Amino acid sequence: MTQDNYKDAIKDPIFLVIAEAAAELNVDSYVIGGFVRDFLLKRGTPKDIDVVAVGSGIELAQKVASKLPTTPKVSVFKNFGTAMLKHNDLELEFVGARKESYHTDSRNPIVEDGTLEDDQNRRDFTINAMAISLNKGSYGKLLDPFNGVNDLQSKVIKTPLEPGITYSDDPLRMMRAIRFATQLQFNIEDNSFASILENKDRIKIISKERIVDELNKIMNSPKPSIGFALLHKSQLLSYILPELSALQGIEEIEGHKHKDNFWHTLEVVDNISENTNNLWLRWAALLHDIGKAPTKKFHKKKGWTFRGHEFIGSKMVYKLFKRLRMPLNDKMKYVQKMVLMSSRPIVLSEDFVTDSAVRRLIFDAGENIEDLMILCEADITTKNTKKQRKYRNNFKLVRQKIVEVEERDQIRNFQPPVSGEEIMKTFNLKPSKEIGILKEAIKEAILDGTIPNEYDAAYNFMLQKGKELGLT
Ligand code: CTP
Repeated sequence: MTQDNYKDAIKDPIFLVIAEAAAELNVDSYVIGGFVRDFLLKRGTPKDIDVVAVGSGIELAQKVASKLPTTPKVSVFKNFGTAMLKHNDLELEFVGARKESYHTDSRNPIVEDGTLEDDQNRRDFTINAMAISLNKGSYGKLLDPFNGVNDLQSKVIKTPLEPGITYSDDPLRMMRAIRFATQLQFNIEDNSFASILENKDRIKIISKERIVDELNKIMNSPKPSIGFALLHKSQLLSYILPELSALQGIEEIEGHKHKDNFWHTLEVVDNISENTNNLWLRWAALLHDIGKAPTKKFHKKKGWTFRGHEFIGSKMVYKLFKRLRMPLNDKMKYVQKMVLMSSRPIVLSEDFVTDSAVRRLIFDAGENIEDLMILCEADITTKNTKKQRKYRNNFKLVRQKIVEVEERDQIRNFQPPVSGEEIMKTFNLKPSKEIGILKEAIKEAILDGTIPNEYDAAYNFMLQKGKELGLT
C-alpha cells in the first residue's frame, strides 16, 4: 500500500481541523488504534476516532472544539488524561502520548510525557498500535513500528511488548484478545495465549461492567463459539461464567453417557446467531441449559436425567445477571422466560400436536413465541441427519399449527373476553376471590378448547360456572 492510500483514511474534513489545531499548539498528533485497524480491514469508516497528541490531549480537544462551527462540548477525564467530543456522527477521543503504563484505575492524573513510540509500546495489540500522521510534512503517513499490517494480513493477535507486561498493564486485554479473535476470526499468537493462561487470575481486578462489555461483543459476533471456546481454554470462563464451565464433560455410568452440554451450548449459540441479531436471544441460547449441571442425576432405569433444569436454569439467570451487574430489567426477565420455556415446543413436537397444547404454548410465550421457536430450532445439534430432518419437520408442524390456532383463537395477546367488572355486575358481587376464580375458569376453558375465544360463549360459560359456585 502506498502512502497515498492512508490519506484516504483521513478524508473527513475533521482531520484537517485537528491537524490545524495541533499545529497551532505546536504538538504532533496522530490518529491511532481501532480507526486505523478498521480502515485497513475495510470494515467501513469507523465513527470512533482516537487521536494521540504528543503533548496534552485535553488541550488539543479544546482547541479542536473551538475551531468547529458548532463548538461542541468537551468532556474531560482528567484522571485518565483524556478528552472527548462529538462532531456530526463522529466520536473523537483525545489522549496525550504516555510513557508510563496505562492504568485505568489510577487516582493520580496521568503524566503525558511520552513520545509517539512510547505510546504505541503501551497499547494492547500490534494491530491496534498503528498510527497515521496528521502532521505537516508527513500527513497521511502510517507509523507501524510492530508490523501490525503484517499481523492483519496473517490474522494474528499479538502484543507489542512481552505479553506478560501488556496483560498486567490492563488485564482486561486478555478478554480483548479473545474478543478480537472472535470478531475478526484471528488467531491469538501462542506466546500471548500462554501468557493469558498464566495471568488469568488477574481478571479479578477488572470491573464486571468492562467484562460484560467484552462478553457482549463476543456474543454479537458472527460465530460467538470462537470466543467461548477460547475463554474456556484460557480458563477465564470459570471465573466469569462458572455456570457454563460446569456444563463441560461427559459422564458415563453403566454404559450410559450424556452429551457434553458445554460444547452443545456453543453450537446452539452459533446456530441462533445465524438467525437473529437479538443479543438477549443469543444470551438465552447461551444459558438455556445451565440448569443441567445442578439437576443432573443418574437413574438405574431412566439413565441420565436433568429434571426441572429449565426452572432451575431460569432462577440461575437472575443470580448470574446480578453477579455480573447486568441489567435486572425486562431483558433479564426475557432471558429467564426463554430459558424456562426452552423445552416446551420440543416436548410438544415429540407428541401428537393438539390444539390445546398449542394454545397453551402461545398463551405462555405471548409475543415471544417466534423467538422461542428460533431458540428450539437452534437447539437441534444432532449429527444424525435422519433425526435432524425429523426434528426440523416436527417444528415445521408446530409452526404451522401455531399459525392456524392463532388465526382462529387469537391467544397471543390474550384479553379476557368477559371483564371482571361484568362478572361483578352479573352476580352482584363486590371485589372478591370469586371473580378471580371465574376469570381463571373462562381462560382455562378457552385454552382447553371447551369454548371458543368469543364473548357470547364466554358469557354463557360464566353464567353456568356462577351457578355451580352458588352465585345465582
Ligand atoms: N487500548 C489499549 N488497551 C485497552 C483498551 C484500548 O491499548 N485495554 C487502545 C488500543 O490501541 C485501541 C484503542 O486504545 O485500539 C481504542 O480502544 P477502544 O476504543 O476500546 O477499542 P477499539 O480498538 O477502537 O475497538 P472497538 O471499537 O472494536 O472496541
